[in-house]
Amino acid sequence: MKVEFVLNGKKVVVDVEPNETLINTLRFKLRVKSVKRGCERGECGSCTILLDGQPVTSCMLLTMQVNGREVVTVEGLENDELFKKLVDSFIEEGAIQCGFCTPGILLTAWAGIKQGRFKSRDDVKEYLGNLCRCTGYVKIINAVYKVATGGAGR
Ligand code: FES
Ligand code: FES
Repeated sequence: MKVEFVLNGKKVVVDVEPNETLINTLRFKLRVKSVKRGCERGECGSCTILLDGQPVTSCMLLTMQVNGREVVTVEGLENDELFKKLVDSFIEEGAIQCGFCTPGILLTAWAGIKQGRFKSRDDVKEYLGNLCRCTGYVKIINAVYKVATGGAGR
């Protein structure tokens, strides 16, 4: 079946199987390799994308569910000022090691900041459900909270 959606600002039309998950369509048909395959059961957040502005796990979505909707991955935010600040902050705070979890965390953090969710470090901790095997979470939370507070929070 044909599915049509907007990916990073551009309309795409893809042929998909009825049981095809969005992570597979993105990685194998649309060559979006920033969307990482981790647990494939909705727990790790490595495959996070923004669907109509909300962070969701693409391993838990059928591609046909995004028909007519808007999907954004980190590639779609490369010129976004908030996204650039987040990337800088992750580098400054040492919140990246292998980078496997990073695209998903950046997208979740970006949405959380946009929605004004982070009034405290605990808010960041609660909202960021993504798993990271490398850095521990202190540096990641520092990096996100710093941006959420305009550079003041640590
Ligand atoms: S791969 Fe989708 S949540 Fe882990
Ligand atoms: S930086 Fe390696 S899993 Fe998070």
